[in-house]
Amino acid sequence: MIRLILVLLAACSTKALAHSPSLADWDNHSGQHKPFENPSNEVDYVIVGAGPAGFVLAEQLSQDPGINVVLLEAGPDGTHAKSINVPAYAPFNQNSQYAWNYSSTPQPTLNGAAPALAQGHCLGGGSAINYIAYCRGAPSVYDEWADLSGDEELRWESLFQNDFKQNVRYEAVVSDFQQYVNESAYGDGPLIVSHTKSLSGFDPAYQYALRANLNLTEVDMNAGHGIGATWGVQSIRPSNSTRDYALEAYGWQMAGRQNARIEHGVWVTRIGFVGKRATSVTYVLATDNSTHVLNAKEVIVSAGAIGSPKLLMLSGVGPKAHLEALDIPVVADIPDIGSNLYDHHFSVIEVEVVPSVNTTAKIFDNATFLAETMLQYEDSATGAFTIPDSGSFATARVPNDVLLAANDTFHLTLPADRPHLLFQYSTGPFVTDPAPANRSLISAFVALVQPEASGYIRLNGSDYRTNPLIHSNYYGSPGDLNAILWGYKKLRSILQSSIMAPLIVDEVFPGKNITTDEELLAALKYSATTFHHPVGSVSLGKVLGKDFRVKGLEGIRVVDSSAIPVEVTCHLQANVYALAHRAARAIKQDRYGRES
Ligand SMILES: Cc1cc2nc3c(=O)[nH]c(=O)nc-3n(C[C@H](O)[C@H](O)[C@H](O)COP(=O)(O)OP(=O)(O)OC[C@H]3O[C@@H](n4cnc5c(N)ncnc54)[C@H](O)[C@@H]3O)c2cc1C
Ligand SMILES: *[C@@H]1O[C@H](CO)[C@@H](O)[C@H](O)[C@H]1NC(C)=O
Ligand SMILES: *[C@@H]1O[C@H](CO)[C@@H](O)[C@H](O)[C@H]1NC(C)=O
Ligand SMILES: *[C@@H]1O[C@H](CO)[C@@H](O)[C@H](O)[C@H]1NC(C)=O
Ligand SMILES: *[C@@H]1O[C@H](CO)[C@@H](O)[C@H](O)[C@H]1NC(C)=O
Ligand SMILES: *[C@@H]1O[C@H](CO)[C@@H](O)[C@H](O)[C@H]1NC(C)=O
Ligand SMILES: *[C@@H]1O[C@H](CO)[C@@H](O)[C@H](O)[C@H]1NC(C)=O
Ligand SMILES: *[C@@H]1O[C@H](CO)[C@@H](O)[C@H](O)[C@H]1NC(C)=O
Ligand SMILES: *[C@@H]1O[C@H](CO)[C@@H](O)[C@H](O)[C@H]1NC(C)=O
Ligand SMILES: *[C@@H]1O[C@H](CO)[C@@H](O)[C@H](O)[C@H]1NC(C)=O
Ligand SMILES: *[C@@H]1O[C@H](CO)[C@@H](O)[C@H](O)[C@H]1NC(C)=O
Ligand SMILES: *[C@@H]1O[C@H](CO)[C@@H](O)[C@H](O)[C@H]1NC(C)=O
Repeated sequence: MIRLILVLLAACSTKALAHSPSLADWDNHSGQHKPFENPSNEVDYVIVGAGPAGFVLAEQLSQDPGINVVLLEAGPDGTHAKSINVPAYAPFNQNSQYAWNYSSTPQPTLNGAAPALAQGHCLGGGSAINYIAYCRGAPSVYDEWADLSGDEELRWESLFQNDFKQNVRYEAVVSDFQQYVNESAYGDGPLIVSHTKSLSGFDPAYQYALRANLNLTEVDMNAGHGIGATWGVQSIRPSNSTRDYALEAYGWQMAGRQNARIEHGVWVTRIGFVGKRATSVTYVLATDNSTHVLNAKEVIVSAGAIGSPKLLMLSGVGPKAHLEALDIPVVADIPDIGSNLYDHHFSVIEVEVVPSVNTTAKIFDNATFLAETMLQYEDSATGAFTIPDSGSFATARVPNDVLLAANDTFHLTLPADRPHLLFQYSTGPFVTDPAPANRSLISAFVALVQPEASGYIRLNGSDYRTNPLIHSNYYGSPGDLNAILWGYKKLRSILQSSIMAPLIVDEVFPGKNITTDEELLAALKYSATTFHHPVGSVSLGKVLGKDFRVKGLEGIRVVDSSAIPVEVTCHLQANVYALAHRAARAIKQDRYGRES
């Protein structure tokens, strides 16, 4: 069934921000931590990391009351945090207690720049601090996952029918502009997704400029379309315009289950092995730095694409020479752990915009406007607070002649349903730092969504508190660089098009005097940063075998973004929820000989 959400200027007078009754139940689970040190109190599954993957697995596996599941999260509980619940506050979570403050190492491919790479550090992981875009992407990507892993269930048709749809339900929204949705792409799952009620003011012009200049039509990227333009489906509740995320969608369902425990402030420092079998985890409590051990029949690592390879290496599972150099006793020599790291990365063109556009500067630098905006949000769940620092987007291929001219067979031969680039914008300044006073800036950007080059992660010492070395290798091949240069020029011409003219005051970065390819390459490297979508560092097929088990070891699986073998073509979170749902089915099949 296809539907258009019609233009209705409705008075949505429901009072927002009322507390859900399930919060009270939830609090029982995040109270005093009781260590599980009694060895006879061995649990069936300990899951490390409460991001979307960890939460989906914990909820699915603990549906059987005879199975004990413990989910351990290093970060805090942000249930009541405004920065998590209110979409416009999303950027404030970086460099906060809710984020791991990682960065790439200085990258030779970026003239030595070392872009930050924050990851989620709280109940919900990245799903608590991301910019709430929810999209799937080109079907051929999932077919490639199936080919690389040998898991036929990862093929698009299967993942779409059995996992993607099960994660979510689409709630229709009353909006003041038309947005296309293909309702048959959604199911009856716990995560609520919807469309935004309000626009930043940079949209709709930007959306129409993307469509016109890239020759695209509007699509629902959750329904098997890799290429097109969209206002973007988001993980947001239309009732009160708050973020929906893994803690609430999956965690709250577990509140009454005696066989499930969720603990935050519990940093797992090592997985314990007897021979090749994982038998325990060692963890440190944030409350007092005390160390404890929990025994488990099985350990599932869901610590994210940076956290999972880091924990495995700290536990002696990884490239042998690297571990030996750090005096870490080697349990298993698995050279591919930490390698195959892919990330979406992008480059920015900053423009100053007219006062009608709701930029973060306009909202947060003016106390009067801020108070008005808050009031509007609490009254009607509309306005600038409903927008997560970003807006509509589009995906496109680089023209064949441009790829051919650079001998870029990698991008040329990618399946035709896959875009190379994603164009979007943020309402905050990404490049100028500190942000110039009294200039309202938008960061338009173009991302490489099918990079050819991969990077790798290594430890920077054997202390669990030390951040790993992340060699992200952005724009790390001549083809990648050629593709992004084309995209960067295209983005600039879109911003200079007649549709955008009424909104743009000036180009702030790189600036009008930057014109040659050499100058533009320097600018796009200078402004290069992450989309926060790292994947592949504990890859299916390479490191993980059947049923997400680490090859060569027993009692240990890895299920999260690190298992994703090649990048998707759109934002990442939808894929992690679906992959974990698929993994839970595989684990149940493995355990019971059937899926439930
Ligand atoms: C700033 C930001 C913006 C993003 N924007 C979007 C977006 O708009 N749309 C989109 O689709 N995707 C977005 N993403 C990506 C998306 O959120 C992630 O892909 C997704 O959260 C990954 O899920 P995961 O379960 O694999 O790992 P994570 O979400 O990273 O969860 C892993 C969890 O494990 C915990 N952990 C790690 N190590 C340990 C340890 N040793 N002991 C205990 N716990 C540990 C971490 O604290 C974390 O909570 C964004 C991500 C970020 C960070
Ligand atoms: C928003 O609504 C949901 C669902 O009714 C509720 O659980 C949640 O507590 C509300 N959020 C806030 C911040 O009030
Ligand atoms: C990230 O940085 C913030 C601000 O400096 C800090 O409060 C927070 O503890 C850091 N996060 C982690 C996980 O160390
Ligand atoms: C809508 O989604 C279904 C899958 O649920 C798909 O078969 C159909 O082609 C989609 N329609 C359009 C117009 O994309
Ligand atoms: C635009 O796209 C349509 C298909 O959607 C195609 O038929 C047409 O040739 C394209 N035009 C240009 C100028 O590329
Ligand atoms: C735990 O140890 C770290 C140093 O490693 C210290 O900064 C922190 O304050 C300690 N926390 C507590 C609660 O003692
Ligand atoms: C601040 O916001 C108020 C209320 O919207 C507006 O009247 C005023 O002009 C704004 N001030 C500046 C400096 O933009
Ligand atoms: C900007 O935000 C204000 C406050 O929420 C809102 O009233 C206004 O409609 C927004 N402007 C646009 C163009 O959406
Ligand atoms: C592409 O390959 C041809 C033939 O090998 C070579 O002559 C040409 O210089 C190459 N072009 C680029 C941009 O590498
Ligand atoms: C910014 O604008 C305000 C209000 O117009 C003014 O008082 C202030 O001096 C300006 N700041 C700068 C650095 O120009
Ligand atoms: C690695 O650790 C050393 C100290 O052991 C430190 O000086 C260096 O800055 C760290 N490297 C990175 C990239 O964090
Ligand atoms: C461009 O102009 C800026 C600001 O005037 C200046 O700092 C920069 O050096 C110029 N760059 C080039 C390549 O001319």
